[in-house]
Amino acid sequence: MLKRFWLWIGRLLGRLVVLLLALGLGGWVVGELYYGWKFSGPVSSEEEIPAGEAALTRGIIDDAIRIVEQHRDNTRVLRDAHAKSHGCVRAEVSVAADLPETLRQGVFGEPGKTWQAWVRFSNGNAYPQFDRARDARGMAIKLLDVPGDKLLSRPGGQDEQDFVMFNNSVFFVRDVAEYKSNFAAQADGKKVLAFFPGWDPREWEVRHLLIALKTLSPAPESPVDTTYNSIAPFKYGPHNIKYRVIPSQDGCPAYQVPEQNQALPNFLRNALYQQLSLDRVPACFELQVQRQNPEHYMPIEDPSVEWDESISPFETVARITVPPQDFDSPGQNLFCDNLSFNPWHAIPEHKPIGGINRLRKAVYEAVSAYRQERNSAL
Ligand code: HEM
Repeated sequence: MLKRFWLWIGRLLGRLVVLLLALGLGGWVVGELYYGWKFSGPVSSEEEIPAGEAALTRGIIDDAIRIVEQHRDNTRVLRDAHAKSHGCVRAEVSVAADLPETLRQGVFGEPGKTWQAWVRFSNGNAYPQFDRARDARGMAIKLLDVPGDKLLSRPGGQDEQDFVMFNNSVFFVRDVAEYKSNFAAQADGKKVLAFFPGWDPREWEVRHLLIALKTLSPAPESPVDTTYNSIAPFKYGPHNIKYRVIPSQDGCPAYQVPEQNQALPNFLRNALYQQLSLDRVPACFELQVQRQNPEHYMPIEDPSVEWDESISPFETVARITVPPQDFDSPGQNLFCDNLSFNPWHAIPEHKPIGGINRLRKAVYEAVSAYRQERNSAL
């Protein structure tokens, strides 16, 4: 009797598993067909600004300021995103000597030219947490002594060109309207539900939820051991591009960072310190750009869509070398905390484009100014 019961349970579970597999496979096939159809065909190579974007942006700034106040570290006001730094390091960015004519644009206009730079590595979260927590990891680069007019500059930083990235290739919302509703839901403590704003299945953002889950990934072995993406698009002279920075051994000594104790809260900083300050080995990257081909589905206004590399491959335009150095001092850490990186700290040839970048212009400036003002009063 008991045996028959267990056999019955076994058959039931077996059928349930087959049913779930069939549903999963069916969902995947439908998703592939749907997005294959939806994400096809030519797109605009110009920005398309929806009505009401500016008003939404003002609301997002208020929400962001509320968040930095919630996460104040004792007395200091931290960044609203990427609050925890693994270190600010000096770097050299050298334009590729053999750059083709069409890629000689803006700060990459002179092959062989080397720019001095600051690089800040970070975790994405709004407040510092253990490095082993799943999170996005950020890399922000600031080229120094860049001549010419800037779209925006921080006080005391008129000659800077910034590149601001994190280590996923796509963003978890498409535009400012979705950012506003998602951010507001998250501020109300919703996590997964932030992607399901109502009962109407047409409003469900399952694809964006999967992107968000993938963005929160386990830590790399070291901050210099992962690929960082601009995610949003930019001008590059006459081209529209996305850029990325990939680790590269080319011209750099082979090095494997010794295994770090990942139970320690700041093991990513430890890994950076081990390589640059103890073992005195440089870290190297390539800076690459991917040009938009508007004949294909490479939209400007939706950074949740990856531009197909098989249609438009990334091309290396510069090498980044982080030389051995001592970076982990109280003075340098404070200097780094007080710096502002902003994709709009840019010359017009590298203008940020698309809705998420337009939003970032207002929000980074407002949050940075707010925290600088609050911290300078301490
Ligand atoms: C393409 C998408 C994005 C990327 C790649 C990105 C990446 C980054 C990185 C790496 C930082 C740290 C910069 C540093 O080291 O100082 C940062 C800071 C920040 N991000 Fe983003 N972010 C993106 C989108 C957004 C959006 C949509 C918002 C909000 C509207 C936002 C708000 C902020 C704020 C407020 C800061 C801190 C600014 C400061 O206080 O200096 N980011 N972001």
